[in-house]
Amino acid sequence: MTTASYIVLEGLEGCGKSTHTKRLGEHLNAVITREPGGTRIGSLLRAILADTENTDLDRRTEALLMAADRAQHMAEVIQPALARGQHVVSDRSIYSTLAYQGYGRQLGTEDLLSISTWALNNRLPDMVIYIDVPTDILNERLAKRDLDRFEREGAEFFARIAQGFTELRSADPQRWIVIDGTMSKDDVEAAIRTAVLDRLGE
Ligand code: TMP
Repeated sequence: MTTASYIVLEGLEGCGKSTHTKRLGEHLNAVITREPGGTRIGSLLRAILADTENTDLDRRTEALLMAADRAQHMAEVIQPALARGQHVVSDRSIYSTLAYQGYGRQLGTEDLLSISTWALNNRLPDMVIYIDVPTDILNERLAKRDLDRFEREGAEFFARIAQGFTELRSADPQRWIVIDGTMSKDDVEAAIRTAVLDRLGE
């Protein structure tokens, strides 16, 4: 049996992460989960984070709520699954904090890396699947949705996040797999599956 892996999907809103988290997770018979909101406590935190009424949420509070969600997620879902030998596939992770709060909210990555690593009890993701879609295509996709507190931010916020993801993956190329998210859903699914199975040695 291969050792269970902690695999995460990352990207900007509308890139297709949720669909492909589900498809990959089902293929691997993994625990399929997400951040924020992968636990009961996390769903309560997610509601605060997404609520468009919370325009007064301080950026440090936002970062700490994400970290609190992550600590609960590790303790309740990720660690137990890995311990019983089951892969975990998660829609978002610590890298969203580094990109959104670190670059988007301009808090920098140093403290956030340390807070989130602590929240994870040092168990970082083994693989990061980054679904890459140009922002003009994402904007067209988002125009069809009801927007949450993050999605209502302007283009500059998302440009900083996109830049953040680019820097994060070039600093750690072994862990990251970049997938062209402009292909059809089935082709994206196949590309992700091939890359992941290759890394897992299956
Ligand atoms: P989702 O809509 O992709 O599930 O994610 C919810 C929002 O939360 C999304 O706009 C990204 C944001 N987010 C952060 O800002 N920091 C984080 O650490 C995580 C996990 C998500």
